[in-house]
Amino acid sequence: MLSRIVIFFVGLAAALPGMQLTTAPRADATISKMIWRGQIEAGGPEMNFTGTIQEVVAQIRQIKPDFPAGLNSSMPLPSKDDGHEVDCNVGGSGAANPTYINDGIDYLHVIPGNCGVSAGNPGTCARISCSYNAGIWLCSENGQEVLWSCYALGDIAENDCFSCIGGDGKGDWCSGREKWPEHNFHVDVGWVDC
Ligand SMILES: *[C@@H]1O[C@H](CO)[C@@H](O)[C@H](O)[C@H]1NC(C)=O
Ligand SMILES: *[C@@H]1O[C@H](CO)[C@@H](O)[C@H](O)[C@H]1NC(C)=O
Repeated sequence: MLSRIVIFFVGLAAALPGMQLTTAPRADATISKMIWRGQIEAGGPEMNFTGTIQEVVAQIRQIKPDFPAGLNSSMPLPSKDDGHEVDCNVGGSGAANPTYINDGIDYLHVIPGNCGVSAGNPGTCARISCSYNAGIWLCSENGQEVLWSCYALGDIAENDCFSCIGGDGKGDWCSGREKWPEHNFHVDVGWVDC
């Protein structure tokens, strides 16, 4: 526990203002736009949009201003005990404010359909959410497309952040990576310059 806290503070230092910040959650990852695929109205056709969850919602609302009214959010994870694991202090370019990570999670929890990352090599990460320097990423680990319910990704991001939470006396911070090896993806939460 102590070593985790010490490691956490080393990570926090990396997020202090004035330092050069990178936006990639891993050195060799390609950052692509998130894909959203689902219905924008009950009984309607399946459609694709790209961007962060905030950008996707803004695009859909230009077509259907009351989206997601009348639609249920997508299903939660089929299983909570699917062999996933969390590494703290490896998401983003340092730690993010959990309050703003929660903003992204709130979006993911009300949006129907699936959120995904396109195929890429060696691994592709899509930025799912970005607000007030708090980022959530979805990364494919084997170069294949990953498409997962937005709701479930919200649950994963929530567990990821709150498993790695630490404080500096002025507030709480989180940076983490939740890995789902059976499904070849991971979700990162942490600092991003946005
Ligand atoms: C959405 O994207 C998928 C995968 O590329 C494609 O098969 C499908 O036709 C697209 N749907 C629309 C409505 O463009
Ligand atoms: C939403 O969920 C409710 C309760 O499970 C169900 O009765 C309803 O048909 C669903 N609506 C849509 C649009 O899927």
